[in-house]
Amino acid sequence: MGTEELIRNPARGAVTNDGDSHAGPLAFHRKLPGYEPTPLVAAPSIASALGVHRVLVKVESSRLGLPAFKMLGASWATYRSLVARLGAEPEWETLDELRVAVAPLGKLTLAAATDGNHGRAVARMAKLLGYASHIFVPDDMVAARIDAIRSEGAEVTIVHGTYDDAVATSAAAAGDTTLVISDTSWPGYTEPPGWVIDGYATIFAEVDDALGGVEVDAVFLPTGVGAFAAAGVAHYRSSGSATRLVSVEPSDADCVLESIRAGVMTEVPGPHRSCMVGLNCGNASLIAWPRLQVGLDFCVAIDDHRAEDAMRRLAAEGIVAGETGSAALAGAFGVMAMGGSAEVGLDADSDVLVIATEGATDPVNYQRVVGRTPEDHHHTLHKNTEFLKFGKVILNLILEKHFWHAVMMGQQL
Ligand SMILES: Cc1ncc(COP(=O)(O)O)c(C=O)c1O
Repeated sequence: MGTEELIRNPARGAVTNDGDSHAGPLAFHRKLPGYEPTPLVAAPSIASALGVHRVLVKVESSRLGLPAFKMLGASWATYRSLVARLGAEPEWETLDELRVAVAPLGKLTLAAATDGNHGRAVARMAKLLGYASHIFVPDDMVAARIDAIRSEGAEVTIVHGTYDDAVATSAAAAGDTTLVISDTSWPGYTEPPGWVIDGYATIFAEVDDALGGVEVDAVFLPTGVGAFAAAGVAHYRSSGSATRLVSVEPSDADCVLESIRAGVMTEVPGPHRSCMVGLNCGNASLIAWPRLQVGLDFCVAIDDHRAEDAMRRLAAEGIVAGETGSAALAGAFGVMAMGGSAEVGLDADSDVLVIATEGATDPVNYQRVVGRTPEDHHHTLHKNTEFLKFGKVILNLILEKHFWHAVMMGQQL
């Protein structure tokens, strides 16, 4: 077990100029079957426990038919990789038309390493396109996650070792008919992982849309190789927003925290045994790193009991989030427990955004931790999201400090 820690990024720079371009990915995602924005849910009991004004939870437990946000990156990276092979962007509106458009490329296999969600998303994308998939997983992956990947029709290879070992093995699978769609990058392999980061922009575009332009004060970003956090940086830093960005990692797989501290990419060797399995990574992504170094404000490393506590708190609000999915909220509580609220600028006026990046991908452990099955919650979540369906206007009203401020200033909302 590593040590719980909160550090400020000494290299936090000014605005980056390689901001996110969410228009392409968002338009693409809208054309995929089952696309709809995921819910943004206010969690009042959690806000009062944290001592902040609002906690808003972006719930990614059902995204494009899968229980995690990762399909956003996997689908866009696969699409861009196919467009690169075609040499030009095809005209299409439906998946059937896309399949026809990419037919000249012949039968392909999509390959990826994963600690669960990314690999399942790549396998799903392969299935949608009529391709084969080959997914490489570390040897400590629980059966439920392996079964979920196989349920997409993938061939699964269990690699003896860590997630990082699975990444190394998957890299060797690349070939004329096999496209590696990795969410992490290494020297000589940067394009698809760059597209994965771009694909995640859809989450932040949806958040902005739901908030009608109201800025949150802090965003907690669950961080494995840092692709997702890099998407957060691209989004918030390109607009010059003052929103504080906090990466959250398990204390024994805190490669981004250690890299930020050292000012240079730093490996945190395994074994990584956190229950936040999506964050069990020993190396940051090569292309994510420069963005993280300039754009993160704080890094927090936390122990597993905080993730379990956050799962229960979210469950009490009717939100089903697994171990990794609860990490962002766990990071916020970690900051508070480490006495860092003032430093991070969390107070009674703060609005905090946490991204609950996955649902209960290990239902057996979910029931052990929360004491209920994931299904027991769904009706409550439904109730909660119905409330938010009143849309942006109502949410602005909920964020009354902004509302009253605007009224006092005689501004239009
Ligand atoms: C549910 C979930 N949240 C967050 C992450 C972290 O994303 P990244 O590896 O891009 O930092 C992962 C990665 O697998 C994940 O599965």
